[in-house]
Amino acid sequence: MTTRNLIPLIIVLTLMTTNCSSNRREFGKTPSGESVELYTLKSATGVEAAISTYGGVVVSLKVPDRAGALGDIVLGFDDFRSYLLPPPYFGAIVGRYGNRIAHAAFTLDGVEYKLAKNDGDNSLHGGTRGFDKVLWKAKPGNGQSLELTYLSKDGEEGFPGNLSVTVVYTLADNNELKIDYTATTDKDTVLNLTNHSYFNLAGQGEGDILAHQLTLNADRYTPVDKGLIPTGELRSVEGTPLDFRQPHAIGERIGSGDEQMVLGRGYDHNFILNRTGDGLSLAAKVTEAKSGRVLEVLTTEPAIQFYTGNFLDGTIRGKGGKVYGRRSALCLETQHYPDSPNHPAFPSTELRPGATYHTTTVYRFSTGS
Ligand code: GLA
Repeated sequence: MTTRNLIPLIIVLTLMTTNCSSNRREFGKTPSGESVELYTLKSATGVEAAISTYGGVVVSLKVPDRAGALGDIVLGFDDFRSYLLPPPYFGAIVGRYGNRIAHAAFTLDGVEYKLAKNDGDNSLHGGTRGFDKVLWKAKPGNGQSLELTYLSKDGEEGFPGNLSVTVVYTLADNNELKIDYTATTDKDTVLNLTNHSYFNLAGQGEGDILAHQLTLNADRYTPVDKGLIPTGELRSVEGTPLDFRQPHAIGERIGSGDEQMVLGRGYDHNFILNRTGDGLSLAAKVTEAKSGRVLEVLTTEPAIQFYTGNFLDGTIRGKGGKVYGRRSALCLETQHYPDSPNHPAFPSTELRPGATYHTTTVYRFSTGS
């Protein structure tokens, strides 16, 4: 073969290689100069998810409406640097302990561990530098999955044990974004991993979510005090604005004078899921009438935090310059109960050497009438 004949072959091979890696681009650099990458997963049915190695953040999630038009339905930023600012935790992996730990302290095996107080007197979402603010190592799959790993050193943010964490995002052709969380430790520890995506099924930045209809498969929830710490009671939702066993518009009862709605400044509560067995079970369903988009959340976790973006206040400008006002998105964070390390009666969040933590959550998208 002559050199001339080889040229087309070289072009084809170059194109093939570029195509294989084209789902990866540089998103930015951390303040210490490390490169942050953005991977775009695509399903054969057209759903797209862009995931950053910084914080494992789901930066965008494009799903079809009833006419087949793709829309980005999660809040976030176009530029990487905005993710370095104080967090609303847009799209991030949250850990080691998603949600709150009262007084930022817990006792395990007779030893008291002290954490950073980054939410009043309490610890929130893993502390000042939680899993949403670290760089994860990426191992791409076939363009539809991404494996992220992180080693959280013994003592990081005050938690015991070297914790080795793997989070795998998989975009399936039936329009499901699946998240698998796995972890092991070399010392007794506690953990509660989740994802903090903010959804607006009408499209990110398209107004508030008060007309979205929500169903939650939960008979009970954990009422909170003014610091949003569970009182320890498991209370029935019956006859309260927290009863979503039948679909209700999110805005229908959000402004009611119910004590819990006042304390939460809206919905910011942990719902205990009705479940049988250990497998994936339906936790929540959200529908949005104009787009026809439907989101179902399935999980192996015992609870889900439903949060209506009460702390968003219009000061954040997100993707495409959209202003994110109060309640412009909702979070459905699958997890264990908040402050479990201080509530022996709650399902345990302890992990011991030799055991493997494994949970799965699926965000399933479809359209309805
Ligand atoms: C969680 C909490 C909220 C709030 C957000 C982040 O969902 O429950 O109270 O802290 O994270 O702003």
